[in-house]
Parts: sequence; C-alpha cells; structure tokens
Amino acid sequence: MTLSGSARLAGVIGWPVSHSRSPRLHGHWLARHGLDGAYVPLAVAPENLEIALRGLGALGFAGANVTVPHKEAACALVDDLDPLARRIGAVNTLVVGADGRLSGRNTDAHGFMANLRAGAPDWRGDAPAVVLGAGGAARAVVVGLLDAGVPEVRLTNRTQGRAETMAAELAGDAGTITVIDWSRRGDALDGAGLVVNTTTLGMAGQAALDLDLAPLPLQAVVTDIVYTPLETPLLANGRARGHTVVDGLGMLLHQAVPGFRAWFGIEPVVDDDLRRFVLAVP
Ligand code: ATR
Repeated sequence: MTLSGSARLAGVIGWPVSHSRSPRLHGHWLARHGLDGAYVPLAVAPENLEIALRGLGALGFAGANVTVPHKEAACALVDDLDPLARRIGAVNTLVVGADGRLSGRNTDAHGFMANLRAGAPDWRGDAPAVVLGAGGAARAVVVGLLDAGVPEVRLTNRTQGRAETMAAELAGDAGTITVIDWSRRGDALDGAGLVVNTTTLGMAGQAALDLDLAPLPLQAVVTDIVYTPLETPLLANGRARGHTVVDGLGMLLHQAVPGFRAWFGIEPVVDDDLRRFVLAVP
C-alpha cells in the first residue's frame, strides 16, 4: 500500500526476527482497515537493544512489539514499566507516549486468556489448572490464570528449581501455585479443569510431550501454546478422548490486539480470515 508522509509506524524488535509472523498479522489488519500505517520487522542485536529502544521515539514510531531474546532485557530499558509486565518479568509491547516516554507492557497473559475463552467458551476456571513448563511463556500463562481466579495452578517442569523459583516469585493473594515433580505430571491431572503445555515439546522437530491423559476429567480443556504444528500430539490425544482442545495460534493473534489498538487507534478483530492469512506463510 502507499503511505503518506504522516503514516503511523510500528514494528517488531527481535534477533533474529525473520521468522516472526507479526508483520503479516498487523499488515492484515492495516490493510483491512485501510490505514495509513506500517508495521515492519526490526532486526536488533542484543548489544543494540538500548539504542534501538531510545531511537523508537526519536524516529516517530508509535511503538513496537518485543520478541525473543529481548523481552526480559526490555524491562530495564523502558521509562515506565506496567505492573503486569513487572510481575511477568517481560515486556512484549512498547508504546511511545505523546510526551515521548516509552512504556513497556505485557499482553501475553491477555492473549493466552482471550484465546482460551474464545476456543473453550464453557471453561469456567473453577478447577485446578495444570501448567507444564516454567519458561518465559509459562509466567504469562500462570499470571493470566491466577488473575482469572483459578483456585490452584499445578506447575510442573523438567528442571524443578525453575518451577519453584517461579512459584515463589508469583505467589500472592490470588490462587495457589503447587509445584509437582515432573516425573509425577500425570498425577497432577486428577481433578483438573485445564491442561496447558508451555514447553517446546510437540513443536515440529521436537519430541512429543509424554503425558497420559487418562486421569484427566473429560470436561477438562486441553491447550498448547505451540502452534507449529497447529495440532500437536497433545491436542490430537485430547481431541481423541473428547476434550475441548485449543491450539496456540490464537494466543499470538490475541496478544497483538492491545498493541494495534494503542498504535493505530482501532480495536482489531481476531477471526478466521486472520487465522488463515497468518497460517498461509509464503
Ligand atoms: P519460553 O521462554 O519460550 O517458554 P524457555 O524458557 O526456553 O522458552 O522454556 C522452554 C520450556 O520447555 C522449559 O520449561 C523447558 O524445561 P527446562 O526448564 O527444564 O529447560 C521445557 N523443555 C524444553 N525441552 C524439554 C524436554 N526435552 N523435556 C522437558 N521439558 C523441556
């Protein structure tokens, strides 16, 4: 599309960034709304992160997304860190204010919850949730679930110390986090209402997650944040047993909504057209 001299600008800062689907995603919304704006990939090496973030306002950008490996480092480089981003310990969305100040937010917890609610409208959040994995993505998922009122998060990770650290850091007045030994992850499913895989297991080229779903109540929802492939072995097992399953692509799509709204002033919609467009990577 043709841009005018007053086009609004945003982008995604990562290293590498060539795999990112965000330019395609935001580009679809910009085209759909006929906006005078652009969303571009910004390949920024770690040693250039600080100068790049400072440069955003100087260049007149409305803001940007931040992706791997910069999400944690960005927390220390913004002028204002949103309390939710502080709790999660990562920034994925930057907004340049009218006064030029750079604010850092995290929309991953929102993206996870919005995708879960869209894909499993009957999920009520009144039973324990089992979260597998304790990396950066898991933190956003656990915070989203606790803030939604889930009474207990059962956290299990191959490296137990990481799960224990996360549980200690996120412990608060809302809900309980129970750390379960990785070798006993199957037992954690007893009485649960939700299972979330946040590990890289099941991703194309990786081993499948080894998890026997037999103890899981049939009304429980099974979800994965992996979206390559869209149907991971975990989701295929869940579907075969009759569970409602929610794939991970929607988390990517929904986490993008607040940024687009902040930069371009329109609340965009996540729908099947968008899913198809983002999936059809050339
Ligand atoms: P992200 O920030 O995207 O969540 P990460 O921090 O690298 O990525 O976390 C990857 C998650 O997948 C971790 O929970 C990791 O477990 P460890 O903390 O023990 O490393 C988990 N993971 C990766 N490969 C795994 C494997 N082969 N078996 C079990 N868990 C694995």
